Amino acid sequence: MPKDAIAYQAAHTELSRLIAETGALTCSVSNSVHRPAVECLLRYALPHIDGLDFSDTPVNDRGYARKVLYTHPEGHFSVLALKWMPGAETPIHGHNAWGCVGVIEGEIGCETYCCRDGGQCEGDLTSTGRILAGVGAVASVEPNPKGIHRLFNPTGKAAVTLHIYGMDLSENPTAVNVPYQH
Ligand SMILES: [Fe+2]
Repeated sequence: MPKDAIAYQAAHTELSRLIAETGALTCSVSNSVHRPAVECLLRYALPHIDGLDFSDTPVNDRGYARKVLYTHPEGHFSVLALKWMPGAETPIHGHNAWGCVGVIEGEIGCETYCCRDGGQCEGDLTSTGRILAGVGAVASVEPNPKGIHRLFNPTGKAAVTLHIYGMDLSENPTAVNVPYQH
């Protein structure tokens, strides 16, 4: 999909501001601080962002819908929204870039993992715990092989999350994910 075909659907002022601030930040400070700095921006903006429209976005066979809201023209970052139906669950995965996530609606579960061998993570993963995050919760993750996790919706209500990843996802929104066998 060409970049100019990615719809910039930031109809909401706070989302537009968050995207503008993230763009300015990623152009002006070292890559090494993008993740914590963007996490702070997301934490302040999140309570004011709502009403994301998924009516044109299909739910996949794992129970969630993924919508690209924005991709930076120089590929510094991408903004996605995901809607999680009850029972939705991702595969266990890491990310090819730093990532920040916040909960806009409902509650989302997250289980984290580490490599049992401490090395290349050839499928030998150990759970390090799980949480249930509610509206306003914000977290960030470092690139693979750190931050291996899965997200799931264990509740009876849909959940919506906002994600910012430090890479260009205009061609393939799932390119950020590094799947693991478990
Ligand atoms: Fe993830």
